[in-house]
Amino acid sequence: MSEQIFYPNPEFAKDARIPSMEAYWELQNRAIEDYEGFWKGFADDKIDWLEPYDTILDESNAPFYKWFSNGKLNVSNQCIDRHLADKADQNAIIFEGDNGDVKHITYSQLSEHVNKMANLLKNKFGVKKGDRVVLYMPMIPEATYAMLACSRIGAIHSIVFGGFSADALRDRIEDAEAKIVITADGAFRKGKPYMLKNVVDDALESGCESIEAVLVVKRNHEEIKWVEGRDYSYNELIDAESTECPFEPMDSEDPLFLLYTSGSTGKPKGVQHSTAGYILWAQMTMEWVFDLRKDDVFWCTADIGWITGHTYIVYGPLSAGGTTVMFEGVPTYPDAGRAWKMVQEHNITQFYTAPTLIRLLHKVGEDEPEKYDLSTLRVLGTVGEPIDPPAWKWYYEAIGKSRCSIVDTYWQTETGGHVISPLPGATPIKPACATFALPGIIAEVMEEDGTPTPVGEKGFMCITRPWPSMIRTIWNDPERFKKSYFGDCKKDGEPVYFTGDGAMVDKDGYITITGRTDDVLNVSGHRIGTAEIESAIKHVSSVAVSAVVGKPHEIKGEEVFAYIVLKEEGLSADEVKAEINSVIKKEIGAIALCDEVVIVPDVPKTRSGKIMRRILRSIAKGEEITQDTSTLEDPSIVPTIEKIVNSRG
Ligand code: WT7
Repeated sequence: MSEQIFYPNPEFAKDARIPSMEAYWELQNRAIEDYEGFWKGFADDKIDWLEPYDTILDESNAPFYKWFSNGKLNVSNQCIDRHLADKADQNAIIFEGDNGDVKHITYSQLSEHVNKMANLLKNKFGVKKGDRVVLYMPMIPEATYAMLACSRIGAIHSIVFGGFSADALRDRIEDAEAKIVITADGAFRKGKPYMLKNVVDDALESGCESIEAVLVVKRNHEEIKWVEGRDYSYNELIDAESTECPFEPMDSEDPLFLLYTSGSTGKPKGVQHSTAGYILWAQMTMEWVFDLRKDDVFWCTADIGWITGHTYIVYGPLSAGGTTVMFEGVPTYPDAGRAWKMVQEHNITQFYTAPTLIRLLHKVGEDEPEKYDLSTLRVLGTVGEPIDPPAWKWYYEAIGKSRCSIVDTYWQTETGGHVISPLPGATPIKPACATFALPGIIAEVMEEDGTPTPVGEKGFMCITRPWPSMIRTIWNDPERFKKSYFGDCKKDGEPVYFTGDGAMVDKDGYITITGRTDDVLNVSGHRIGTAEIESAIKHVSSVAVSAVVGKPHEIKGEEVFAYIVLKEEGLSADEVKAEINSVIKKEIGAIALCDEVVIVPDVPKTRSGKIMRRILRSIAKGEEITQDTSTLEDPSIVPTIEKIVNSRG
């Protein structure tokens, strides 16, 4: 089926915002011919400027690009206030709890909640423009209120995914020197309460000098520890606040948020996003890629702790004036039909999820979709990793009834929004292919020196012109920003943005993403650096050396596979695995646990001592070793390791 092409449904295409490939090329050619003019047109049309900008794109301090310099705007105005005139009673958020309880929050109610929270942060805790606020929150509406409240007063939020450990939370709080943490007692998952506040307590006990207060939202009402003078109850304080808090005029380039993500070294990077460029692209991609229209109900299943949740649960749908669904639970509880039941009950029009979830729901609930009415769906989306053709086919047929376009959206924490994706009313789709760069994004698959990679061969996925929603810098580390993204590839002698991914262009110009070229894993759509896992394993006293690689996994996409050299013989692989995983759980969180651990006498190294991960990756995958091993310090280690890996039960 690889060469089969799926054309957009003509019924759908005729009303789509971008209705044909001609319309796509008309836009993209406009961007190529007059790049700044293209972006100016959309910025003027989409953003409610409080004061006009004076420069469209400032490249004078590359790669620290600036867009729409000196313009003033406010993101909570973009997402709320400007919609109140005609959308006050429209649902902004539909929240469904783990137990199935549903809450509808209209734009006018959202406005009240956000204004009150903004006042609380400002008046009670003295949060000012530029202060960092860490959110360690479950998937409840208050998380969205907190994000928008920060943007209203100009505070910079940094959301830490609730699956990260106390140590990981502490490191992120300390790196950002945050002033306050907003959290919840906990929430519910699969019918049971789980806790978050205790993790914040642990993080704060081990450091976090900058933190002045912890604001706690009550959700599961379980008992929690309370530190007088530090911990404050949102539920008790919020009603005293006024529903009017004037929004702060922010500069286009003021940071909107930080979001920590993994790179190829041990320390996570605080990706810094801007105000104007980010919100502009969040809204534009919402309209183009999901074809969002009035009365649509959009559901993105991500967690707000990841960029997908930022852009496509909160900022995209709300800036576009849509209705966004927020779900506390998991799509397999109480059964594997939960998601499809929600589609039916909320009349969901766009459904956006990760391939790992599609594979799981296909496996454990193949017949579930038939039990529900899915006829409201128009566009299906995937994100986070390449989707394999069998999963694509099930999604297309069983969920989309061969009627909905599937948008395989390629992007990253750093790109802010989609960069390569089909357009649902225009692009003839090849399954499992991200297809073409969106209008305004100049994406090229190239060699390090900028020469285009020949058709059908793997090259580097680069974006060769700065775009509005791109990462601005790494918080506290501009040098690392330059090195991480502008250090590998050049075009016409100038450094260009390299995504870290490999890609291939076919004879029709379609782009297929082939995966990371660096030591970053993608486990169930979560991005994890192997170096991060290895630095956690360093804390295990019995381990001399570790080398972590990814191994393909049926559901998760990739699993974590660790080669371990012990200081002394004696421990079994199971014992070592248990020790390692308890340390990883403490240092990073359960998302990074090792699935497989093998004990080896040594790892393959070059004579200069560099671990040859490529060989280890091939062995884990069970591939034949084709690399030249003669340059290794000890070539005989390769068959030894192969034997150990293959002889396991
Ligand atoms: C990495 C970014 C962007 C939101 C979720 C992940 C991989 C993402 C696709 C796709 C193939 C994809 C890339 C990328 N990726 N989308 N449609 N096809 N690969 O954000 O944690 O920043 O991870 O996810 O490897 O670099 P992230």
